[in-house]
Amino acid sequence: MPFPIPKGKSHFVYRLMRILIHSGFFVRVFDDEEERYWLTPASLLLLRNAPLSVALLVQLILDPVMTEPLDHLSEWLASEKHSSPFEMVHGRVLFEHVGQQPGLNDLYNEATSSDSRLLAHVLVRDYKQVLEGIESLVDVGGGTGTTAKAIADAFPDMKCSVLDLPHVVGGLEGTNNLTYVVGDMFENIPSADAVFLKWILHDWDDEECVKILKKCKEAISGGGKVIIIDMVVDADGTDINNEIIRETHLFADIAVLAYYNGKERTEKELAKLFFDAGFTTFKITPAFGLRSLIELYP
Ligand SMILES: C[S@@+](CC[C@H](N)C(=O)[O-])C[C@H]1O[C@@H](n2cnc3c(N)ncnc32)[C@H](O)[C@@H]1O
Repeated sequence: MPFPIPKGKSHFVYRLMRILIHSGFFVRVFDDEEERYWLTPASLLLLRNAPLSVALLVQLILDPVMTEPLDHLSEWLASEKHSSPFEMVHGRVLFEHVGQQPGLNDLYNEATSSDSRLLAHVLVRDYKQVLEGIESLVDVGGGTGTTAKAIADAFPDMKCSVLDLPHVVGGLEGTNNLTYVVGDMFENIPSADAVFLKWILHDWDDEECVKILKKCKEAISGGGKVIIIDMVVDADGTDINNEIIRETHLFADIAVLAYYNGKERTEKELAKLFFDAGFTTFKITPAFGLRSLIELYP
């Protein structure tokens, strides 16, 4: 819908809008000599009621609880006491802190769900073949189950489950082919043909990732695969899109450092984790712009 400029505020609106146009959130159009601003594909994703809205993810990223750790990076670098800047600022690691604050727990789960809604939409539309032939799948750290629900709906014969912490999945009701399992991925992952890990490995350091991957390998001991969705930092960005993606990867890497002492990894760094956990082959498909789809085999 066009957005008319209120009378008397055109100078103010002009200054505000020119930075939003520069950043790609609006375009300026002239309609019968009248100047109007239109939303772009990027800003359409920020409308709260849009079906694939990621407004809540942006709200979480901009919440002081998440931005404050970024303000204390240098202090954290100089200290040996805290596992992450988040822990230094809030006194507990992120997943514990979220688990103790119901409002933040809701925001965190809804924010990650909004991202999952967008990605799962593309996954089942464009990469359905990756899921074909799988009879059972467990989404590890699957939040409140948005991705698993999309997969369960697209594959009604597949048995899907979501493993997550008590404050995330405790009390949630499944459907005929979707169940929720309260548990700890470092302790046990239920057996399945496929283990799904979306936005998990980047939350953890290398040693923790190898532990998670070893548990995934045990879970698919019947001979299946692990499907991973995460960023793969590519050192060779040359064209403009690659440059923007690369810049976002580098900023995201610092964000996950601040939140979790996590890491966005290159293909070489990921390969080392995979081989250290006992996997032998993997295939990376750059499926989702910033993030890739990785199939990992024992
Ligand atoms: C970054 S979120 C990703 C959520 C979901 N996979 C997505 O992409 O929307 C990480 C998830 O891992 C879960 N998690 C953290 N530690 C866990 C553990 N030890 N066992 C199981 N899940 C865990 C969190 O509760 C959270 O839901």
